[in-house]
Amino acid sequence: MATSGKNRAFPAGFTWGTATAAHQIEGGNTNNDWWAFEHTEGSGCAESSGDACDSWNRWEEDADLVAGLGLDNYRFSVEWSRVEPAEGEISRAALEHYRRLCGGLRERGIDPVVTFHHFTTPTWLTAQGGWESGVAVERFARFCTVVAEALGDVMSRACTINEPNIVATMGWHAGMFPPGKTDVDLSRTVAGHFIDAHRLSVDAIRGAAPGVPVGLTLSMTDYQLAPGGEEQLTSIRHHAEDIFLDATGGDDFLGVQVYTRMLIGPDGWAGYEDGVPVLDMGYEFYPASLANCLRRAWAYTGGALPLLVTENGIGTTDDAQRIDYVRQALEGVLDAIAEGIDVRGYTYWSLLDNFEWAFGYGPQFGIVNVDRDTFARSAKPSAAWLSSVAAANALPA
Ligand code: GAL
Repeated sequence: MATSGKNRAFPAGFTWGTATAAHQIEGGNTNNDWWAFEHTEGSGCAESSGDACDSWNRWEEDADLVAGLGLDNYRFSVEWSRVEPAEGEISRAALEHYRRLCGGLRERGIDPVVTFHHFTTPTWLTAQGGWESGVAVERFARFCTVVAEALGDVMSRACTINEPNIVATMGWHAGMFPPGKTDVDLSRTVAGHFIDAHRLSVDAIRGAAPGVPVGLTLSMTDYQLAPGGEEQLTSIRHHAEDIFLDATGGDDFLGVQVYTRMLIGPDGWAGYEDGVPVLDMGYEFYPASLANCLRRAWAYTGGALPLLVTENGIGTTDDAQRIDYVRQALEGVLDAIAEGIDVRGYTYWSLLDNFEWAFGYGPQFGIVNVDRDTFARSAKPSAAWLSSVAAANALPA
């Protein structure tokens, strides 16, 4: 590896965290578009999210786990359909729940990193046309004001919309997320609405919670050129990444989320190279993708924003493979930092084995296993490994 013989320490102040999302762990989120989709015949969903990890009730156990690992921060999302179960009707109890979570994390020495939208939209809003008609843009900004007013003094960082590029593509082009449509033009319209919503929500959050750093968390893929793919590569990067990166000017940070690479040929994705390891969900095992995407984000934005890895991880039943993946990905982060790229932190996806959207509970991204019947949590060796890296703020020799 290129880093051998180099300093394996991360810069002072580099932050370590782990992430989850409301719908994937809370359970019983029956009032959003995902729940409806999970229960739609023919949607392709493996199963219902059901009780998920019961984290709505067991959040203290989760906070204890993060504290036990000695991580600096915990990234989670607020569930819009709980906070605003009907249009304009705000649940003070739900807001109070998230205040308790933030407070409980702080008491344990953990910075709460709050995501305002992580894939799910209330069904009252989708019924109005949601992201498709664009009515969601203003509604989302209004929701952000409410949440930022409630959590402004207890949250450490705000992430507006999680992977709007994935939501638009998977929901309106690939048909694998709600509403399950396959209309590329519509997916681009939706992407435009998400971009508008990001800009408005940054203003809303700053207005209600001045001083809290705000940014976008974008899914990036290490798109690589296969013979003849030049035009496709430019087009894919433009629609999947660049238009979103263009919307981050003036933000406080850019959250980069990376899982794999894809080879792009004249017809788009060119498939796997012979013999490469492919994981359960179809991702190629390619830890170098993280550093490559950090380089691209940094170059594209001209170094205008500090970068945070807000998600990186691997769905595997082989926990040794997880450690290997994260170690190699972190080697790449060290390389990127050595090249002068301002990377401020690393967040592993995910704390828990949880509801992996259309794939259900099959893929295991967690450093902590959750028993599907009892919800008992048990840390895997990768949790201890990540904990030791965070404590040393360095990779082991
Ligand atoms: C991301 C998403 C997470 C999680 C992860 C693993 O795209 O933000 O919610 O599902 O992928 O596939």
